[in-house]
Amino acid sequence: MSTTEKQYSSTEDLIDLLKAQHGQIRDLFDEVMHSQGQERKEAFRALVRLLAVHETAEEEIVHPMARRIPGGDGIVDDRLAEERAAKETLSELDGMDTDDPAFLKTLDKLRMDVLTHARAEERYEFERIQDEFSPAQLKGFAAAVRAAQATAPTRPHPGTESATKNMLMGPPVAIMDRVRDMIREARDKG
Ligand SMILES: [Fe+2]
Ligand SMILES: [Fe+2]
Repeated sequence: MSTTEKQYSSTEDLIDLLKAQHGQIRDLFDEVMHSQGQERKEAFRALVRLLAVHETAEEEIVHPMARRIPGGDGIVDDRLAEERAAKETLSELDGMDTDDPAFLKTLDKLRMDVLTHARAEERYEFERIQDEFSPAQLKGFAAAVRAAQATAPTRPHPGTESATKNMLMGPPVAIMDRVRDMIREARDKG
């Protein structure tokens, strides 16, 4: 488990957890850009998994919370449009050779879009959620996100790889569908 993963697996507050994931997403983009060959392929797979877990958790848990806040619908609709655009670019990248120069160009577009989106979430959505919900509620929601993260690790440990492999293989959209089922299960249990 990497330092960042350890850090957010022990994070009890939902907003801290999501912000830590934003940091890890940013780091993984750097890693993909500054590596090549097999190393780049693996870093890109890790990025796809983390984006799948993170964005799906936001869609299933965070955005519905934000809709309960006055004026929340407009904020959430804007974020969903950004997430949809990012998913399209991610699917485009998934079909490309990671060593193709066009890959880096498209990756850079995705990086800009995802980081701008993350900043908008922190500024317009997370702060409001923090104000409107109690620490106990935020803790409960964080547990659901952590449960999803545990079932879909970004970098599976040696030995557990085959168990998570089937779940996290295939095109990003398929991964997101599987992660969505896990998150709903964790959310509805909690
Ligand atoms: Fe998001
Ligand atoms: Fe986010």
